[in-house]
Amino acid sequence: MCGIVAYMGPRNGVPIVLDGLRKLEYRGYDSAGLAILNDHKIEIHRSVGKLIGLEDKIREKNLCGTPVIGHTRWATHGRPTEANAHPHNYEGVVVVHNGIVENYLELRQELIALGHTFSSETDTEVISHLIVRELKAGTDFENAVRQALLRIRGTYALAVLYEQEPEKMIAVRQSSPLVLALGETVGEYFVASDIPALLAWSRDVIFLDDGELAVFAEQGMRIIGLADGDQREKEIRRIAWDPIMAEKSGYKHFMLKEIFEQPDAVSNTLLGRLNEDRSGVDLSEIGFSEEQWQSFKEIKIVACGTSWHAGLVAKYWFESLTRIPTEVDIASEFRYRDPLVGLETLVIGISQSGETADTLAALQEARRRGACLLALCNVMESSIARLCDGVLYTHAGPEIGVASTKAFTTQLTALFLLVLEMAARRQTLSAEEISRQVKALLHLPVALEKVLARAPELEKMARKYHHVNDYLYLARGLNFPIALEGALKLKEISYIHAEGYPAGEMKHGPIALIDENMPVVVLAPPDRHLEKIISNFQEVAARDGRLLLFSGPDLEVPEEVSGVDRFVVEVVGEELNPLLYVVPLQLLAYYTAVLKGTDVDQPRNLAKSVTVE
Ligand code: AGP
Repeated sequence: MCGIVAYMGPRNGVPIVLDGLRKLEYRGYDSAGLAILNDHKIEIHRSVGKLIGLEDKIREKNLCGTPVIGHTRWATHGRPTEANAHPHNYEGVVVVHNGIVENYLELRQELIALGHTFSSETDTEVISHLIVRELKAGTDFENAVRQALLRIRGTYALAVLYEQEPEKMIAVRQSSPLVLALGETVGEYFVASDIPALLAWSRDVIFLDDGELAVFAEQGMRIIGLADGDQREKEIRRIAWDPIMAEKSGYKHFMLKEIFEQPDAVSNTLLGRLNEDRSGVDLSEIGFSEEQWQSFKEIKIVACGTSWHAGLVAKYWFESLTRIPTEVDIASEFRYRDPLVGLETLVIGISQSGETADTLAALQEARRRGACLLALCNVMESSIARLCDGVLYTHAGPEIGVASTKAFTTQLTALFLLVLEMAARRQTLSAEEISRQVKALLHLPVALEKVLARAPELEKMARKYHHVNDYLYLARGLNFPIALEGALKLKEISYIHAEGYPAGEMKHGPIALIDENMPVVVLAPPDRHLEKIISNFQEVAARDGRLLLFSGPDLEVPEEVSGVDRFVVEVVGEELNPLLYVVPLQLLAYYTAVLKGTDVDQPRNLAKSVTVE
């Protein structure tokens, strides 16, 4: 997820764009850059790292001009280097982009065959090249942009300048957010990925819809359809947010914003990783040879905290769908247990930050013992990503809240893709079964949206139980790690003690804890464990435990079980229940913490990335 800001009007656009990028830095901070178009001359300044690097670089230059486009980057394709930083310029067409060009490799090869040379590793650069090709074929600027984008498969929010038409600026939206704002005078326009970047200058905004293109000129602005070029009329909305609220896009906390970003984050993690007809998986980006893929006789997963929970779910998937023996270790334990790791071991390190010291150390130990390492990270070029032989990135975008939410669901998404990839290569799943699983994956964002739409039910549940001192979370099978994750979410942000337990273990001890003061969360999806789970929650009810039941729509609660708080979850493929059932637990934890008045985004004693052992 990146941040775009653009300005056209009578003022110097440089300070306006820099101010806007500052407000959007939470969207990504791998690199920053801006382009100024003065008198048919493009001037571009870029810097690796946070925005302050760019500001330091240009401070003495007293840059001035308009229009100006700017970008702060969260790297998805191409390392965080200055060459990969936006804006990207090709023969006077300059682009800043938020999104993913799924088919950029084939377009890049096509353009290279036509004599184009590229100056970056990014997917974005193909866009400027395609526009130049249309311009050279005699198409005017706005139609050159339209025609070029009709070749693109993927998501994009763009701002585009063309050296030969300095009195024009173009913005386009396709599945990535983009907001326009109107200045005080005709001919003054602001464009940004998100509202915070605009509020200092205007509260009159227009939300572009997908497949729309805005053409800005001194005499006015036009909005046209990307596919048909027809002019569209758009409503001007008045924004009442205060700037702080706006940085969280109107959400009270980053954590809540990130919980609600999960449908997009899962979609973005799937983008570019399915084959042409979306019936199978394509993880060639990892770069393992066929010999390597076939050489793995066992899998070990090392991780911490929430990432460890993702690994626990993946164990069920790897063993049931690929038949590869899989172990999951807490990273800080792995390196000291003299692990049995060899040349035929694939060791997967799961880490949102890519900087967790325990996970890094565990992977270094595995490397020392000859294993092949695969990183599953959310941060490009992070230490763990750089250490490993292959990397599979989650495209969750920056996760600012300390409590991991969208990183977790995108880790599960990426891991499930990896499982399907290995099941296909080992033929432990038929092509039909893989196609069915991919279809279920593609439906996930919709199913997640439906759960999120019922957030008020979780707020009500939190209101009823936020005063308690202890919670128990019970589940079976591949949902047991979700019981652990739900308990971790609650304890780390609300400071209420909570434990996740395999439901079958309750009678071996924890049942002694249950009384009328103990809320017991039970995950009871319609799967092979349902009958056993029903008897478990009957045991809870028989001891006056307060039952919070998360289940499918068809589960009939036995009549003797009364006073149940219930949340119904849509039925999806059994394997994907973990991705759906975790979301109401994230919301239950979030609303409980808000009611407790804790610091939700930065809970006491915690850090977003634990870079010490
Ligand atoms: C999760 O909510 C916690 N913030 C924490 O357990 C986290 O998952 C753990 O520290 C691992 O971080 P990583 O994914 O960046 O390696």
